[in-house]
Amino acid sequence: MSLMNRICELFGIRYPIIAGGMVWCSGWRLASAVSNCGGLGLIGAGSMHPETLQEHIRKCKEATDRPFGVNVPLLYPEPETIMRIITEEKVPVVFTSAGNPKTWTGFLHEHGIKVAHVVSSSKFARKCEEAGVDAVVAEGFEAGGHNGREETTTMCLIPQVHGSVGLPLIAAGGIGSGATMLAAMVLGAEGVQIGTRFALTEESSASEGFKRFCTGLGEGDTFLMLKKISPTRLARNPFFEQVSEAESRGAGREELAELLGRGRAKKGIFEGDLENGELEIGQNVSQFKEILSVSAVMENIVGEYNRLAAGLERLG
Ligand SMILES: Cc1cc2nc3c(=O)[nH]c(=O)nc-3n(C[C@H](O)[C@H](O)[C@H](O)COP(=O)(O)O)c2cc1C
Repeated sequence: MSLMNRICELFGIRYPIIAGGMVWCSGWRLASAVSNCGGLGLIGAGSMHPETLQEHIRKCKEATDRPFGVNVPLLYPEPETIMRIITEEKVPVVFTSAGNPKTWTGFLHEHGIKVAHVVSSSKFARKCEEAGVDAVVAEGFEAGGHNGREETTTMCLIPQVHGSVGLPLIAAGGIGSGATMLAAMVLGAEGVQIGTRFALTEESSASEGFKRFCTGLGEGDTFLMLKKISPTRLARNPFFEQVSEAESRGAGREELAELLGRGRAKKGIFEGDLENGELEIGQNVSQFKEILSVSAVMENIVGEYNRLAAGLERLG
């Protein structure tokens, strides 16, 4: 891959491959491993208390001298504290999600930080442009974690967003191989954000039980649930069945929020409680049958991308 495009230039990275921030998966180990392989690793602040985030940022700086970033879901209860830590620690890149891109972009820019924001529609991609972010992540319905209500797939979303904004575009949702990365680039993306494939690596901080469970999942084993409160793609397990039963009899927001309670994702992903936990993972999980190291994942993606791109050039 000899890509020196706007995403590589913006973040100072070799490959336009970003490991998305993922609650309970993306700590300093995963983020630094991805950055050390030439991508951009993100620490997921969504599951960290401020002091934990600070510790992860410091460990990440010790483990890599390459650029890395922090993902801040803007629903976070203490965004001011988180943003102060990020600026004090001189983190070079922030990916914001689940909120208004206008709120923090100016502040982060004043501190010399590059900003990308995650969206699931062209409408919100245009808001990112207005807010002055440096890049936009367009995340399709296939993705693991919280997701757009509209259910727009990556295949439909990327060309739409590409046609709507001039910002450097990062595609997310269902990408975890060289082939899917190349497809996203053909559709107009200049980089990819990958979650599920990196959640199932040795360096991910998810529990072994969660990782093993996920490698056993097949097609059709994840669904977008909890649309009335916060649409989230979940794998089937007993907790999923409870949500499904409640939703099919028309349970309202309050009942669903009570059923979800607090700490469900931690229980499922980090503690490996496969019965009662919320198991967030993407639709392409069915393609990943092995827990690999980050370097093996990166080599596979870059190798396959190069082989297929060379084949496409010959076809043209
Ligand atoms: C377990 C898990 C947790 C996630 N947590 C977050 C999060 O905290 N913040 C966020 O912006 N996106 C989160 N995501 C989405 C990822 O950052 C990424 O955009 C998405 O996983 C890409 O799609 P893929 O799973 O098909 O690769 C999460 C995804 C997964 C699988």
